[in-house]
Amino acid sequence: MTAIERVGVVGCGLMGAGIAEVAARAGKDVLVVESGDAAAKAGRARLEKSLSRAADRGKIASAEEVLERITVGTDLEALADRELVVEAIVEDEAAKTELFRALDRIVTSPDAILASNTSSIPIMKLATVTERPTHVMGIHFFNPVPVLSLVELVPSLLTATETTELARAFVHEDLGKHAIDSQDRAGFVVNALLIPFVLSAIRMLESGFATAEDIDEGLVRGAAHPQGPLALADLIGLDTTKAVAESLYEEFKEPLYAPPPLLARMVDAGLLGRKTGRGFYTYA
Ligand code: NAI
Repeated sequence: MTAIERVGVVGCGLMGAGIAEVAARAGKDVLVVESGDAAAKAGRARLEKSLSRAADRGKIASAEEVLERITVGTDLEALADRELVVEAIVEDEAAKTELFRALDRIVTSPDAILASNTSSIPIMKLATVTERPTHVMGIHFFNPVPVLSLVELVPSLLTATETTELARAFVHEDLGKHAIDSQDRAGFVVNALLIPFVLSAIRMLESGFATAEDIDEGLVRGAAHPQGPLALADLIGLDTTKAVAESLYEEFKEPLYAPPPLLARMVDAGLLGRKTGRGFYTYA
């Protein structure tokens, strides 16, 4: 296979919708699969909103024209003819391994790439539940996908070079994004550096050292960050932040990766950040 035209995306949440959008904007035929009708409807609405915003800002000529290339459904079997499937479901190892087993059975082309957008689960764990570990890899996008240009390419020890290079061409030439390479280690390059920084900010808040506003303002005004670490955690989602921290802690056993109690309690409370309307800040 020399190019990817038919793309599948599993999960149409924050990331899946973004991945579907950029693939469709690149002219690909995109099929998105959600877990149920309500989630599929919400995913479709998310895509429509994002694309109409892009059209309003003059980034695309027409939202409708891009939406015509995207189908959102609930039938995993419909992914059979895809040349690339990107998994973007919940950050849960059991859910992802079950899905990779199913994708391995469903996707017919032996050259097709089965990719995960996981932030922290070892690609090897997903590769080894399939019969085609040479075609499994991490393709890790950043939130918001239509805006941020970075993608981490994460082959496992068993991924074929051709698989990585086909993914690189897709990311680079088709999507117009920039790829960096990471080994299959928890957090890859960016989160291994970013998450301990976010956790330190949460510990600082938790200890009463400074307010959320002052911590964030400090980093924005004093270090030229586009947003502070607590606002960033709200954007990533506190559940995802905690899950990534747990994976990093499990892999490296360093206290700096351990999720602070405040983060755990906020996740228990359903205060997940922007996606639920409240995290360290409240959103309308
Ligand atoms: P999300 O919670 O917004 O979306 C997950 C979606 O997957 C939901 O819509 C859910 O209904 C759907 N889903 C769950 N199980 C499913 C299944 N078995 N089949 C089909 N759909 C299913 O989560 P988000 O933030 O989009 O994260 C998705 C993945 O992307 C995770 O692995 C996360 O670690 C990763 N990621 C997240 C980033 C972020 O900033 N939020 C950045 C980069 C990667």
